[in-house]
Amino acid sequence: MTESITARVDDPDAARESGRQKMAWARQHMPILESLREEFRDEQPLDGEVVGMAMHVEAKTAVLTETLAEAGAEVAITGCNPLSTHDDVSVALDAHESITSYAERGVDDEAYYEAMEAVIGHEPTITVDDGGDLVFRIHEEHPDLIDSIVGGCEETTTGVHRLRAMAEDGALDYPMFAVNDTPMKRLFDNVHGTGEASLSNISMTTNLSFAGKTVVVAGYGYCGRGVAKKAAGQNAHVVVTEVDPRRALEAHMEGYEVLPMNEAAAEGDIFVTTTGNRDVITREDFEVMGDGVVLANAGHFDVEINLDQLGDMADSREEVRDGVEAYQLPDGRRINVLAEGRLVNLASPIALGHPVEVMDQSFGVQAVAVRELVENPDAYDAGVHEVPDDLDREVAEVKLDAEGIDIDALSAEQEEYMGSWDHGT
Ligand code: NAI
Repeated sequence: MTESITARVDDPDAARESGRQKMAWARQHMPILESLREEFRDEQPLDGEVVGMAMHVEAKTAVLTETLAEAGAEVAITGCNPLSTHDDVSVALDAHESITSYAERGVDDEAYYEAMEAVIGHEPTITVDDGGDLVFRIHEEHPDLIDSIVGGCEETTTGVHRLRAMAEDGALDYPMFAVNDTPMKRLFDNVHGTGEASLSNISMTTNLSFAGKTVVVAGYGYCGRGVAKKAAGQNAHVVVTEVDPRRALEAHMEGYEVLPMNEAAAEGDIFVTTTGNRDVITREDFEVMGDGVVLANAGHFDVEINLDQLGDMADSREEVRDGVEAYQLPDGRRINVLAEGRLVNLASPIALGHPVEVMDQSFGVQAVAVRELVENPDAYDAGVHEVPDDLDREVAEVKLDAEGIDIDALSAEQEEYMGSWDHGT
């Protein structure tokens, strides 16, 4: 039986203290969750529920996890990526009387799925996922639990894609909120969070500058536009690769060079993949890259850069810095891969994930979406649902309030005008 993280670390007391310190810092900068936490503590909306979570277990996620526990739920959590857990935070969470954490950094595939099984062993009535692994595993291995599951929430684009594919095949048997798709999540977390956090982690891991370099951004979706904008802001020349003609045009109109990957491969110094797709950088691209290029991935799974092909081409591999592996090619070129091709802002050794403020918004939406599932359990059929817009607005209002920002309100005449069709010149 998989034990919780506390049994697996050398010095649990020190780990707990360090984890608590990280969480206290995050909490200070998460006014949305703080406000929901007070409301949840008073009203206990999750009393009697069991929340199963598979997420990047670091300080901001921990604040969400505690918020759900303090709403009355029993919570079991594990990681959604083998490299993104902060063990100290995991231990600190595990110390909470209503939370069991199985998340540990650096686990192999077997241990990763054992920990997920341990979460499922708590028989969750609500699931909170980042990437869809928990939902997928419950459907594959534990369909008997589905009748007692009220619903779930999904955090990221790749997870929502997976859920929509399941729903189209008639294989999704409980309601799931696409938290990723709300304005309060996607326009901030995917754009600004991924942009800032990926670039800062690349800088910290390599100690190299973006200025004067050519940065190739694969995919100009929400994440890609954030990475491109922030790289340009650091005086890089930005090249975008795309497969969608409209997104390619958007990138062009923003002033970026747009090229097919194989041409970009010959020009780039630093590559960041943000497509959610596989095999975006492959053998033919490695063949034309310059010596010393840096490859990083910010998409959910580690399939965007084909490292099997790069491994086949290389004579040897060497860890040249913490989190940087150099593949030595027979012609003398070295290709540097960060964080084993896993999402660089969360999986590199010193990664901190997205900025705290951004995750306050994403997790604020998670918290109100979980509350909605238990308040209106009959309102949602099996399938993927948008989070109701009024809940997203509620989170935005709390944030504006916390920032001390006032906005205008529609007058009665304006409301009437905006809702009418019989006006003109
Ligand atoms: P999106 O769907 O808005 O953008 C993806 C873009 O990639 C699309 O424009 C698509 O046309 C393009 N694309 C697909 N295949 C391509 C290929 N072979 N070559 C070039 N472009 C290609 O998705 P979004 O929200 O930007 O998410 C992208 C990935 O990042 C997902 O896996 C998502 O789960 C992940 N993500 C990672 C975060 C992080 O913390 N690193 C945060 C949020 C999302």
